[in-house]
Amino acid sequence: MTDELLGQIRLNGAAPRHVAIIMDGNGRWARERNLPRPFGHRAGMKAVREIVEGAIEAGVEVLTLFAFSEENWQRPPTEISALMSLLEEYIAKEAAELRDQGVVVHVLGERARLAPGARAAIDRVERDTRGGRRLALNLCISYSSRAELARAARLLAEEVLKGTKRLEDIDEEAVREKLYTAPWSDPDLLIRTSGELRISNFLLWQLAYTELYMTPVLWPDVTRRDLFQAILDYQRRDRRFGKVTAPAPP
Ligand code: IPE
Ligand code: IPE
Ligand code: MG
Repeated sequence: MTDELLGQIRLNGAAPRHVAIIMDGNGRWARERNLPRPFGHRAGMKAVREIVEGAIEAGVEVLTLFAFSEENWQRPPTEISALMSLLEEYIAKEAAELRDQGVVVHVLGERARLAPGARAAIDRVERDTRGGRRLALNLCISYSSRAELARAARLLAEEVLKGTKRLEDIDEEAVREKLYTAPWSDPDLLIRTSGELRISNFLLWQLAYTELYMTPVLWPDVTRRDLFQAILDYQRRDRRFGKVTAPAPP
């Protein structure tokens, strides 16, 4: 069945180059089972593996995952430390496999807020996977889009103060270059799981013309089938970017 979906994606032509995902619903998944929330996060870690593999199969080039927001620092300390341990565990378990699959990992966000152990793990996986050509996997950790935009403004202001940039050269491209996502094109498709219909401070600049796909499936239950279905839905969209599409020939 997944093979059929994959075949259909290939028949339709280009897969979205860049897919971004708000991985939501771990807590509710755990609650449905009367388990503490960290069990949901652990189950969610398996789904990351599944979706990375699915993205490679579908020919996605960039996968940007929202794993932990700046606002998530306001959660109970026990949940935060469970999440940070899981991050370290994920990297320890998956780094070699990711490298073998040709995945290059980048972590986007305010790393200064992370504990030294988590920071070291992140540095390690970025170093060990450097050079991966098949898929860029961006993990947004301690990330918020407004903070990213404020940081970009600060970086530009610094250059103007230093005299290395002129005020009149601050245009959209100049801002874009200061975002964590500067090396990649904007997401073509954004998926949010767990039925919430909001962006939650994720990639506000980059999502300007992204196609949105919201699914009720909770993140730990997500399989590559869900990813393929989202891609098939995306392939049916008419992306106009504010222009008028040419009418179909009679
Ligand atoms: C997403 O699941 C993971 C993180 C935000 C870290 P949640 O923990 O937000 O799960 P729900 O939304 O409470 O179900
Ligand atoms: C968004 O989910 C952040 C991540 C998935 C990491 P949240 O669960 O934090 O978002 P809200 O609070 O429902 O908007
Ligand atoms: Mg949530």
